[in-house]
Amino acid sequence: MNIKNITIIGTGNLGSRIGLQAAISSYNVIFYDISDSALSKAKASLEKLCNQLIKSNLLLEAKKEEALARIEYAADLKKALTDCDFISESVTEDLAIKEKVWKQIRDLAPTKTIFTTNTSYLLPSQLASISGRPEKFCAFHFHDVFYARVVDIMPHSGTDLSLIPLLEELGRKLNQVPVIVKKESPGYIFNFMLMALIGAAGRLKTKDIASIEDIDRSWMVNFHMPMGPFGILDSIGLDTAWHVVKERDDTASQAFGSLLKEYIDQGKLGEKSGSGFYTYPKPAYRDADFLKKAR
Ligand SMILES: NC(=O)c1ccc[n+]([C@@H]2O[C@H](COP(=O)([O-])OP(=O)(O)OC[C@H]3O[C@@H](n4cnc5c(N)ncnc54)[C@H](O)[C@@H]3O)[C@@H](O)[C@H]2O)c1
Repeated sequence: MNIKNITIIGTGNLGSRIGLQAAISSYNVIFYDISDSALSKAKASLEKLCNQLIKSNLLLEAKKEEALARIEYAADLKKALTDCDFISESVTEDLAIKEKVWKQIRDLAPTKTIFTTNTSYLLPSQLASISGRPEKFCAFHFHDVFYARVVDIMPHSGTDLSLIPLLEELGRKLNQVPVIVKKESPGYIFNFMLMALIGAAGRLKTKDIASIEDIDRSWMVNFHMPMGPFGILDSIGLDTAWHVVKERDDTASQAFGSLLKEYIDQGKLGEKSGSGFYTYPKPAYRDADFLKKAR
């Protein structure tokens, strides 16, 4: 199958990145979100993202307008799915919302359309049957798209396995390194390991063993990393992390969930809202002397 037309369902933090990369890779892209205002927000974020990519030498200035011109916006799902070859779904990490969206897609997508979800911690088998096309349903999970270029391909037991080479090829065309998760597993490969790190950082903080800054410093110095677990949480989005943590019933996760909720209730969602554990666009961990201080 020749994929030409890609529809992005949910154009927030991740959906807009996936859509922009698809447009840079010469696909025709349609952005669909729940309202015109969500689409306007996505459009504005693309402008910012492109400028950031140009500054980091990841996009040529001359290619920016060409890529943006390949993106259309639709708040009407039927319109967004006309002639769609491939869906990448990135709506809020909430099972009930995703179920609702896949039910709507089921009734409107052409028969040729391949269905993928970018969920971070849900399993494709939780959505496959509701999509009405379990054999065409697979997880195709990105990380940050531009700075962390790995895409997880994770089928469920009912996925037609002939989809896998096609998704691998698409992943490469989208400038990602495809990796295959042979068995359904929450968090795929990297996120499974990342959850252990973030969970441990959360415990160190909620038990008041160390400050957020010192937890991050410790990780940054030992692994020569540009940010620590709390900086990572800011880039993921505290709301997205909370949706994952709140599903866990152990006391450490519950305590960590409460900490995240305190920030969320103050509108501090991380980098995307201008503040989270740190303040953006110049978070303290990027200060030249951050690693020298202790707090
Ligand atoms: N943030 C990350 O670092 C990251 C990384 C990989 C995967 N993901 C996954 O991507 C998905 C989206 O995460 P995000 O961080 O981009 O969240 P986000 O909150 O930034 O974006 C979610 C988008 O979904 C839209 N939406 C909500 N309900 C909808 C509906 N009924 N119909 C259409 N659109 C709807 C919202 O308007 C919003 O634009 C989640 O499944 C998340 O687990 C996130």
